[in-house]
Amino acid sequence: MASFSWLCPLVALTLLTLTTAQFSDYSDLRGPYCQRRGCCPGRQDDCSEPILGTLCYCDDFCNRTRNEDCCPDFWTHCKGLPPPPEPPSPILGCTYEGRVYPLNKQIKKNCNVCKCEKMGQNQADMLCEQHQCLIEPSITEAINSNYANYGWSASNYSKFWGHKLEEGIKLRLGTLQPQRFVMHMNPVRRIYDPNSLPREFDSEFKWPGWMSEIQDQGWCGSSWAITTAAVASDRFAILSKGREKVTLSAQHLLSCDRRGQQSCNGGYLDRAWSYIRKIGLVDEQCFPYSATNEKCRIPRRGDLVTANCQLPTNVDRRSKYKVAPAYRVGNETDIMYEILHSGPVQATMKVYHDFFTYKRGIYRHSPISTNDRTGYHSVRIVGWGEEYSPEGLKKYWKVANSWGPEWGENGYFRILRGSNECEIESFVLGTWAEVENKLLLRNEI
Ligand SMILES: *[C@@H]1O[C@H](CO)[C@@H](O)[C@H](O)[C@H]1NC(C)=O
Ligand SMILES: *[C@@H]1O[C@H](CO)[C@@H](O)[C@H](O)[C@H]1NC(C)=O
Ligand SMILES: *[C@@H]1O[C@H](CO)[C@@H](O)[C@H](O)[C@H]1NC(C)=O
Repeated sequence: MASFSWLCPLVALTLLTLTTAQFSDYSDLRGPYCQRRGCCPGRQDDCSEPILGTLCYCDDFCNRTRNEDCCPDFWTHCKGLPPPPEPPSPILGCTYEGRVYPLNKQIKKNCNVCKCEKMGQNQADMLCEQHQCLIEPSITEAINSNYANYGWSASNYSKFWGHKLEEGIKLRLGTLQPQRFVMHMNPVRRIYDPNSLPREFDSEFKWPGWMSEIQDQGWCGSSWAITTAAVASDRFAILSKGREKVTLSAQHLLSCDRRGQQSCNGGYLDRAWSYIRKIGLVDEQCFPYSATNEKCRIPRRGDLVTANCQLPTNVDRRSKYKVAPAYRVGNETDIMYEILHSGPVQATMKVYHDFFTYKRGIYRHSPISTNDRTGYHSVRIVGWGEEYSPEGLKKYWKVANSWGPEWGENGYFRILRGSNECEIESFVLGTWAEVENKLLLRNEI
């Protein structure tokens, strides 16, 4: 407004009100007024023009009356003064992180949308949503600057970047907390000497090529289906000594095990296991994973032929793949014994915010984000080991996750063992696969 200070106050005042009310241009104030009316020498009270609901004057006395009320173009048109400089541009912008954005421009800052909003007469500010993001640089940096203390390091995963924590909890996990009666299922009792268990074990080394591969569940809360299908697949391979090496279809569970289950919004493990026990699964090739709640296309009754699946070539199997009832495995050494003798187990864990950023090391949830939202996830424990650290011997589980092979240690993570870290030892399940014993002689290995 400074450049207008030479104008008569009335007009200046009107201008001010106008700019406050709306940022329309100033052009309607530029006339022509005196140019249209003609200049009137001396004092001529009727030499006026309407302007903004009142009158302005083009006579020589407009500057002398108590309320100066000359028309805006009086000075240029009647007195030959130079025209005022162009009014300041009404275009506002926001300066944000060293860059200027025009009004109403939207940008995305990690998982939040920011918009350059007008905040008042002459001001605009970048306003951002305040969601917690799945990857928060503050968490990643805190973890990485203190590896000695936490024992693991964190990474910025580009597939998680830009997503809300809320979305991660809902769509990257997907295991409903076991109902109380299931939680109270008695663990199976095993007789063994805990000291006979090896210090390190990896299912991949004991059963090379037979174990399930790392999968990526995508943005679908399907860990309940993926881990159930994977543990069942592992056990088919182990119990059949590799003859029935099969990848069972997690999509089959996701699409068809609907009773009390929520597909991509999560499911119960006990219900998944009882579905495989009663109905059985087809293999991945027959019903491939799509990370959606697509319609079920496998009939409840009938065999692999009814379901339009290709039959395996080396065993005489026509029935769907079924398992015996799942059982619960009690404590640390029981879990080790179970994996050693029967193969990977399914575990449920509580997922804290910082877990999404895990890159390598022995995970233990940090106090940094403990008050953020958490969720339940199921994973597949495939082995264990121990590692010397400055704090002494650290025992860990080796666990398969379902966030793709580029996450963590090639899709796996290690987590503290023996202290029920993230409740991972609370609800561990195993099962017996019902393998097909009749071999097809032509293909027998
Ligand atoms: C307005 O009138 C006063 C005398 O009343 C004069 O001194 C002043 O210069 C005039 N303003 C302009 C911009 O001509
Ligand atoms: C994280 O990764 C994304 C995508 O690769 C990138 O745009 C973002 O700037 C990264 N964030 C940090 C803090 O490095
Ligand atoms: C685990 O439970 C078994 C019984 O199933 C028991 O013999 C063993 O001592 C327990 N181990 C630990 C570490 O509590």
